[in-house]
Amino acid sequence: MRVIWRIGASAGVLLALVWIVNQLSFIRTKWQEYHTIPLAYDTATWKKGFGRSFEDWRRPRLVPLDQRRPSISDLAPQRGQHRASDQIAIDTASRTQIIVRDRVIVVGKRKHEDTNWVIEELPDWSHAIYTVDDASQPLHVPKNKGKESSVYLQYIIDHYSHLPSTIVFLHSHRDGYPEAWHTEFDEHSNVNTVKLLKTDFVQRNGYANLRCNPDPGCPNEIQPFRASEDKLPEVLFPVVWETFFNNTDVPEVVATACCAQFAVSREQVLKRPLSSYQRYQRWLMETNLSDDVSGRIMEYMWHIIFGQDPVYCPDMIQCLEDVYDM
Ligand SMILES: *[C@@H]1O[C@H](CO)[C@@H](O)[C@H](O)[C@H]1NC(C)=O
Ligand SMILES: *[C@@H]1O[C@H](CO)[C@@H](O)[C@H](O)[C@H]1NC(C)=O
Repeated sequence: MRVIWRIGASAGVLLALVWIVNQLSFIRTKWQEYHTIPLAYDTATWKKGFGRSFEDWRRPRLVPLDQRRPSISDLAPQRGQHRASDQIAIDTASRTQIIVRDRVIVVGKRKHEDTNWVIEELPDWSHAIYTVDDASQPLHVPKNKGKESSVYLQYIIDHYSHLPSTIVFLHSHRDGYPEAWHTEFDEHSNVNTVKLLKTDFVQRNGYANLRCNPDPGCPNEIQPFRASEDKLPEVLFPVVWETFFNNTDVPEVVATACCAQFAVSREQVLKRPLSSYQRYQRWLMETNLSDDVSGRIMEYMWHIIFGQDPVYCPDMIQCLEDVYDM
């Protein structure tokens, strides 16, 4: 009887030991998790984050430097449909690291327009939303001229020395007809086009028009030398060309799918010096042309500024295949 009692007691002690060791490793795991979970940089993001996957909510974050050092995985490209990787910036004043998403959506809006869809529905992207008619907003333009083009130029000028690798330039509307008629696909949704965008194509080609439908714009929208005095953007194109590019090699035909929504790579933007973009901006701010005319001229300049042939009208099916992940 005594022997059985002893064996029983020994087994009990053994089991208790196993249990304690298990608990210790559980506690250690929890401890490590606690120390690797970054502090969210605002409570809204943090709260919203719960209920999402870890990958999802850890993206924008601010971590005290002495709690967490950058690991090699911070610098590696993110998995998933977008190849561009995040960058780490160190804010020396607050001794914190900020993960900067390496792709940005640039949008111009008027103050009454709602662009929250950019922030809420495309969380994988940074955003720069400029208000054209309210100089008290942090991001604004010197004068509300030339429609969206002043915003696109202002973004490049403001960020020339620290551009992310992919930059998408969009109008302010999320979707719908007629206001977003020139955005691709059934719903004309900028959210869809950005989600489907192949950023590796943008990296390879330098520029991607987000509209593949060639009408209007292609195949020959701007013909500077035909005698059509009622079509001001076309008539004035040579003068602006000379101002922009300091030569008189004006093409006979300029064309691309309309309406100025496109993506570019940092490398492509940097192929022209900052002073070029400042020259375009100066022209836009000083011209006496109406916004319709100056905006239209800019619409047919972008693809040339970003290194494409004056007639940039790829086959529509090929364009959809190149630009979108479908
Ligand atoms: C424009 O081109 C001429 C030569 O064709 C050159 O002398 C001049 O410096 C150029 N101006 C600018 C602003 O690049
Ligand atoms: C615009 O008009 C003003 C006054 O009418 C004139 O002084 C100025 O030179 C014009 N600017 C350009 C670029 O033509």
